[in-house]
Amino acid sequence: MNSDEFRRLGHLLIDWIADYRAKVEELPVMSRAKPGDVRRELPAAPPVEPEAFDDVMRDLERVIVPRLTHWQHPNFFAYFPSNSEWSSVLGDYLSTGLGVLGLSWQSSPALTELEEVVVGWVRQMVDLSDAWSGVIQDTASSSTLIALVCARERAAWMHVDAAMAGSAMILPECRWMWKGIESADSLVFNPHKWLGAAFDCSLYFVRDVDHLVRVMSTSPSYLRTGSDHEVNNLRDWGVALGRRFRALKLWCLIREQGLSGLQARLRRDIDNARWLESQVKVASHWRVLAPVVLQTVCVRHEPPGLEGDALDVHTRAWVDRINASGAAYLTPAVLDGRWMARVSVGGLRTERRHVEALWSLMRRETKSESVRPPKGTNASKTELS
Ligand SMILES: Cc1ncc(COP(=O)(O)O)c(C=O)c1O
Repeated sequence: MNSDEFRRLGHLLIDWIADYRAKVEELPVMSRAKPGDVRRELPAAPPVEPEAFDDVMRDLERVIVPRLTHWQHPNFFAYFPSNSEWSSVLGDYLSTGLGVLGLSWQSSPALTELEEVVVGWVRQMVDLSDAWSGVIQDTASSSTLIALVCARERAAWMHVDAAMAGSAMILPECRWMWKGIESADSLVFNPHKWLGAAFDCSLYFVRDVDHLVRVMSTSPSYLRTGSDHEVNNLRDWGVALGRRFRALKLWCLIREQGLSGLQARLRRDIDNARWLESQVKVASHWRVLAPVVLQTVCVRHEPPGLEGDALDVHTRAWVDRINASGAAYLTPAVLDGRWMARVSVGGLRTERRHVEALWSLMRRETKSESVRPPKGTNASKTELS
């Protein structure tokens, strides 16, 4: 591919993604793929001769997209929001396009220093003191693994997993949850969840950087440079040697949205979750099972006479019906030994009307136990109109 082709296809790709996001609401949220469906459609061996990129795009539309679960769908209420704001998507493209690696400060000075600046911005946004220093990791799982390695070398280590809830700390009214945080040793928070940074972007903060570097550093001769004594080499703050320029997507997100834009969206989501909680609380035979402190609402429909395993069967059945319909996607989970439904509000495009429609759907699906055939690809429109 030459640069002219790259330009042509790049424009097409941006248009394609913008169109995908524009029409995603018409697609079934949860994939209906069966195991093996995708593999069956693809050649088992790699192509020997070059193929046109247009053919790749055709297969993307034909084979891949119909077998996706659409996390950016406004009726995605499963797991947790994994928001990919446009600005952050562009930042991610920039990172890939620049193709630089941070093996050391010297291997790409701006990569390291932008990361330090942006992580410092986030530290201030969530009101952590300047006793904390942070670094970008891929996931909370990696950050927590590093915390374990730190803890192995030091007694009384307290690690806080705020992977999901950390985003809410940009809201002063939520900071009561942060009480005591300054006595922790490390914490992780994922801007790639609710905040809007395209996956993957997890922040690992520690108070004792020297300890972190002591347990994680590696310094073979070929990585040593003359500036090592005056800079941070972020390879010493985690497991990986090679570092992606993840700071770009966070930088683009924060600059384009501003703190106020991010706060407004999170407040909208908390309001929507509270609205749902208020509806469930006054509805007969429905129960809110846990305090709604942020954007997740744990609910159960408890019809008279149904309890124990029969209640579990009922819960699994109505959640499965909703998920299979394609109209919305919820996560069933066990709380205190009984199944319930988690409604995780907080998609970028999830407005009040989507939560209202979900609540209507939940009431409708719990009235009838009849299993409906899956609907067509525009199921969400039909169900939620
Ligand atoms: C509280 C909490 N911890 C850890 C994780 C794992 O996050 P990651 O996928 O970044 O490893 C999640 C996400 O599901 C989470 O909500």
